[in-house]
Amino acid sequence: MKIVTVVGARPQFIKAAAVSRVLREKHKELLIHTGQHYDSNMSDVFFEELHIPKPDWNLGVGSGSHARQTAEMMVGIETILLEEKPDCLLIYGDTNSTLAGAIAASKIHVPVIHVEAGLRSFNMKMPEEQNRILADHVSSLLLCPTDTAVENLRKEGIQAGVYQVGDVMCDAVLYYSHMMETRENAYYFGQLHGLFASVPRVNTWYMTTIHRAENTDDENKIREILEALESLDAPAIFPVHPRTRGMVERLYRQREYKNIVFVEPVGYLTMLYLVRHAVKTITDSGGLQKETYILGTPCVTVREQTEWVETLKGNHNILAKTEKEDIVKKVIKTEIDWENKPAYYGDGHASEKICALLDQAEW
Ligand code: UD1
Ligand code: UDP
Repeated sequence: MKIVTVVGARPQFIKAAAVSRVLREKHKELLIHTGQHYDSNMSDVFFEELHIPKPDWNLGVGSGSHARQTAEMMVGIETILLEEKPDCLLIYGDTNSTLAGAIAASKIHVPVIHVEAGLRSFNMKMPEEQNRILADHVSSLLLCPTDTAVENLRKEGIQAGVYQVGDVMCDAVLYYSHMMETRENAYYFGQLHGLFASVPRVNTWYMTTIHRAENTDDENKIREILEALESLDAPAIFPVHPRTRGMVERLYRQREYKNIVFVEPVGYLTMLYLVRHAVKTITDSGGLQKETYILGTPCVTVREQTEWVETLKGNHNILAKTEKEDIVKKVIKTEIDWENKPAYYGDGHASEKICALLDQAEW
């Protein structure tokens, strides 16, 4: 089959790294990078480190309002689809790049395969919730990471073409955390210790990432998060997402945060190392909630709700309001049920299951 895949944002590069490796054994894949993320530490680093095939096109869309960004992507994707006439289009997750691919393809009757279908936060104010619902409703093959996702789709009347395959991010965590431990990758450890000379031993830091619109668009909310991190009993390493950078810099000018190690976004292997060896992770990232679960690091998610509800069951992941006191309270909570940790996200072979379904697909 000839498959056109659309990626554009950091987590999609990581998902594509897991799937493309398997997909290309049997099928011809062409890769469109929309250019939604473009800084080298938000894009190039993943292609290089994870050996993701070089994109066949980079639309160079960059940042912008939702409408402008999505519309520019749609025009670029449609042009390529009309030229290449692929058998189907593959999209990941819930970003504007996902939505642009879904709409551009479905309008010209190119079947859409949605990897990470069926997730819901039930918060329609989130752009991601709108993107994922719209994408699911025009997809022909809906590849769900969890049983919850299958059930969410059923409730919306979508049952045809729905399969639970496990989570491709689980594939990535298991594959790359193994690779990270091998001797050849000592390079990354060197890089890490260069970056964090002030962090002496494993299990002596907290790990933080924050980038959700609901947390970053309000200075008071970012302040609450920084104040919480500042009051913890160990340093918090904080690779700052470019969306969050301006706000953090403004607040830092008002008050020096001594317990927070602010760094640029890091590569995936470095991230896995930092998360695996952290005391806890404090985040609003979707991907990190699962990575922490799989790697066995407790997580506090600074959000009102999560799509990854399974992680909440044994307190492996705890939701916190964007308020200093609530974040600190949740971070010091210790009743976590590690005895009971089902493999909600699969066995690391979701990509193989996706490819097997593609082998049988008849559009
Ligand atoms: C996007 C996704 C979000 C996902 C996140 C992963 C949407 C609506 N949101 O959010 O679901 O969780 O990616 O990280 O698609 N910027 C740079 N350099 C870059 C990229 C972004 O400076 O390489 C800055 C720009 O100021 C930009 C802002 O970050 O306006 C936000 O970028 P954008 O891609 O619009 O959304 P994210 O917050 O990254
Ligand atoms: N990540 C990374 N470097 C960083 C921050 C995050 O490699 O500095 C990885 C993280 O481990 C996860 C993915 O990026 O695999 C999550 O991306 P992000 O939080 O930007 O998006 P989300 O998952 O919330 O959509």
